[in-house]
Amino acid sequence: MPAFALSLPLHVAAATAVASQSQGRRGRIKTTSACCWRRAAVPVNMAAVTSSTLSKLAPLEAILFDIDGTLCDSDPIHFCAFRELLQKVGFNNGVPITEDFYSANISGGHNDDLARALFPDLDHDKAMKFMDDKEALYRKLAPEQLKAVEGLHDLCRWIEDHKLKRAAVTNAPRSNAELMLSLLGLTEFFPVLVIGSECDRAKPFPDSYLKALELIGASPDHTFIFEDSASGIRAGVAANVPVVGLTTRNPEKVLQDAGASLLIKDFQDPKLLSILEEIEPTVATVEQV
Ligand SMILES: *[C@@H]1O[C@H](CO)[C@@H](O)[C@H](O)[C@H]1NC(C)=O
Ligand SMILES: [Mg+2]
Repeated sequence: MPAFALSLPLHVAAATAVASQSQGRRGRIKTTSACCWRRAAVPVNMAAVTSSTLSKLAPLEAILFDIDGTLCDSDPIHFCAFRELLQKVGFNNGVPITEDFYSANISGGHNDDLARALFPDLDHDKAMKFMDDKEALYRKLAPEQLKAVEGLHDLCRWIEDHKLKRAAVTNAPRSNAELMLSLLGLTEFFPVLVIGSECDRAKPFPDSYLKALELIGASPDHTFIFEDSASGIRAGVAANVPVVGLTTRNPEKVLQDAGASLLIKDFQDPKLLSILEEIEPTVATVEQV
């Protein structure tokens, strides 16, 4: 029997507990949510995809994480930084960009591409200087505003308890990535950080995920990825690693079409908890916690 309830604090399983009235204060959470999920909450085809793709990973060996939008909801901070600086340089005649403009034309793009798209008439080095200034403003705003996605820290504890390998894999610049991990208190948690621009090809190509697997010595047959963007999901799928999509910002349809094996709202999602329980590795010491 899995020691799920013993290794996850009870409040993490709160959503699961709603569906299951039967456990005592420190008791084991019953797995009724798994049944509800497979039979009702999720369309049949999605459940089938999930059970055939994620269940096959048992015993789980490693989890790879994207950073922006996956560990933390950072898009609003990027939006603020872009809006302020674009207005300052007179973009759009000084009229601040809207969230719709940001979502459609900026979110998820590489700085190199964005520099060309936003400033088609400007010298590329000057445009890239704007992007650097924007990243600097992002790093200034992040300490005030960066928040972990719900359930992240409990999941990280569960991963440590189960001695799973892990890596953070991102298209963000290294200085941003290191700052975010530090603000989230996860610098030590991730032994490996792979930066897209330091690989031959960034996401949506598989290179950064393949490099992460190699560096931590994990098999793609016992690993899955957390991602929140279509580009990131495509990178994972291209690396032959199943991807769990977080609907932090992007529409479900977009993530599903990109090839996500399962969609969750955050790390407290009962769908995630039941799949983890299904594929968790046996670790003798977990029972003693
Ligand atoms: C995206 O950019 C194009 C070109 O500047 C613009 O016409 C379009 O309105 C923008 N999209 C949104 C949703 O603002
Ligand atoms: Mg992301």
